[in-house]
Amino acid sequence: VPQDVVGVGLLGAGTVGSALVELLTREALRERVGVGVKLVRIAVAHPDKPRPAWVPRELLSFDPNEVVEDPAVEVVVELMGGLEPARSVLLKALEAKKPVVTANKELLARHGGELFAAAAKAGVDLLFEAAVGGAIPLVRPLRESLAGERIHRVMGIVNGTTNYILTKMSEDGMSYADALAEAQQRGYAERDPSADVEGRDAAAKAAILASIAFGVEVDLADVSVEGITALTLEDIQFAKRSGFEVKLVAVAERVSDGEPPELSVRVHPAMISRSHPLASVRGVHNAVFIEGDAVGELMLLGRGAGGAPTAAAVLGDLIDAAHNLRMGAASRSPIRRPARIQPLAEQSSCFCVSVAVADRPGVLAAVAGVFGANRVSIRSMEQVDLGREARLVFVTHEAKEADMSATLAGLRHLEPVDKVGALLRVVG
Ligand SMILES: NC(=O)c1ccc[n+]([C@@H]2O[C@H](COP(=O)([O-])OP(=O)(O)OC[C@H]3O[C@@H](n4cnc5c(N)ncnc54)[C@H](OP(=O)(O)O)[C@@H]3O)[C@@H](O)[C@H]2O)c1
Repeated sequence: VPQDVVGVGLLGAGTVGSALVELLTREALRERVGVGVKLVRIAVAHPDKPRPAWVPRELLSFDPNEVVEDPAVEVVVELMGGLEPARSVLLKALEAKKPVVTANKELLARHGGELFAAAAKAGVDLLFEAAVGGAIPLVRPLRESLAGERIHRVMGIVNGTTNYILTKMSEDGMSYADALAEAQQRGYAERDPSADVEGRDAAAKAAILASIAFGVEVDLADVSVEGITALTLEDIQFAKRSGFEVKLVAVAERVSDGEPPELSVRVHPAMISRSHPLASVRGVHNAVFIEGDAVGELMLLGRGAGGAPTAAAVLGDLIDAAHNLRMGAASRSPIRRPARIQPLAEQSSCFCVSVAVADRPGVLAAVAGVFGANRVSIRSMEQVDLGREARLVFVTHEAKEADMSATLAGLRHLEPVDKVGALLRVVG
């Protein structure tokens, strides 16, 4: 084992970057893991921004290129976020045979192919444990421990903001708007929460999970996405009464065999049976549930975001990269074959949808008729009387997505129908 110190260039010292700097000042890594890491330079954007006392000002640079090009920098850790300049400077680092550690899910979901090819060509590491599930070791278990496993499905709660909002709605009876406001107040949601609540953050993670679980190249554009903005407290209370919790899930699933297999990759709100382990994942926690041939079922749970938890995952990667560099080795680069993605319309599921209607004779038959006309068979129906209106909540048997969207379109055109609520897929 190399008793040595590796020079590190850090790009970004914000929430995660400054937490990493603090971990590095605390941990005596060299004694414990056999290789030390030394911060050589740190790139930030704003010269005058106040920073924690432990971020050494003498190492600051305002040009990420300068950091990557510094001969004393042997490994590059990217915690700036965004697509550019992150993409260009990381390509430059890899071309110079400097291993890279990043937490940038957006960059990997958009330009992963190009970056992994550059890492493979240079024969150096490109590690990204922190990009999905924050502190939860997910990438390494999927890539290494389960490398030989035939995985059927990876289903996760991978966005803490939306899980916090849904937990508040379910447990405290809060409206969507109030739960979102509380999440923002507590720093769990950003001022512009759209990337979280519209499911785009989860979609980037779904693409990354699908890539590593199935060894394929999945682009962000391959992921079908629905967020939680249309969900109401009534949807969540109905689910609860029926023995379910509503969660925003990211799913990567093998739908048919072949090499590469055909996959479904999607993000949407789901009604999860309370007996399923994912139903009990509360608040800002994240979890990923993995189903495979030999392992059966497996769940990993923990803090999905936050400075220190995310920095802990970055640090693990950094130690690996430093160690591999000294050994003249690199982790196996992920296999990324072109993926076959099943269009959402061809997928099947059981659905739950609520419909607000005028409360008068014949309406129920007309509404039920729309389901039947589109080959969607109803499994159960609950009616809530609200004076001159009624809320009908339907749960269907398994049906095709295409048939269900035709049903929703038909319902929206039906005269006594006031409002068609959010569509929930039923899990378990
Ligand atoms: N926060 C989390 O909980 C979390 C969890 C998982 C993954 N991640 C990922 O980790 C990455 C970092 O997130 P964060 O929350 O730490 O972000 P952040 O707090 O906004 O920090 C970004 C840092 O990068 C610097 N920076 C931005 N653009 C730059 C540029 N063009 N040149 C030089 N420096 C630049 C900023 O400089 P200034 O300090 O001068 O502004 C800041 O120090 C993102 O990819 C994010 O998706 C974050």
